[in-house]
Amino acid sequence: MKRIAIFASGSGSNAETIAHHFADRPDVQVSLILTNNPDAGVIQRARRLHIPVVVFDRKTFYETDRILELLVNQKIDLVVLAGFMMLIPEKLIRAFPEKMVNIHPALLPKYGGRGMYGHFVHEAVVAAGERQSGITIHFVNEVYDEGKIIFQATCDLENSDTPEDVARKVQLLEHEHYPAMVDKLLSNLPE
Ligand code: GAR
Repeated sequence: MKRIAIFASGSGSNAETIAHHFADRPDVQVSLILTNNPDAGVIQRARRLHIPVVVFDRKTFYETDRILELLVNQKIDLVVLAGFMMLIPEKLIRAFPEKMVNIHPALLPKYGGRGMYGHFVHEAVVAAGERQSGITIHFVNEVYDEGKIIFQATCDLENSDTPEDVARKVQLLEHEHYPAMVDKLLSNLPE
């Protein structure tokens, strides 16, 4: 059995689609959802999905080994970031080499980096008059949004698209592709 931990800071729609994808799979379990945000929508979703949820604060994340120990004790095989808004500490990245994946709501390397998340990304894409946007799924390294790219998918934009329109198009791509890519990554992990 392969075990996934999902980190999320917001609504958690990606976390939920991933959980649904594996719900009937005896070989894969979403074992844990972790969040830094006590008000995050993902907490309600996790409860509804009967997935244990852990809420932690900044100090615990950056100044203790508790999250790392939790992931190790829970025998987590793959860490999935789904709208998680904190930089991952190096010791966590080192513990999960090419076993920690993120989704970014634009076509990296454009529109990435510190401060580029959620609606800020879509606003920048619209302001630049881009004809396309999309999603990037990548491994996580020490620099925001700079890990090795595993997968990208694009959507066409209209002149009249607002940031909210772009967000909707991008979210459709996320829900279509992220669970499948997580599945593929898991099947490539050694037993
Ligand atoms: C997603 O669009 C994800 O790509 C983005 O946050 C949203 C979370 O939505 N992540 C980033 O911007 C990371 N830089 P969700 O909470 O509904 O899954």
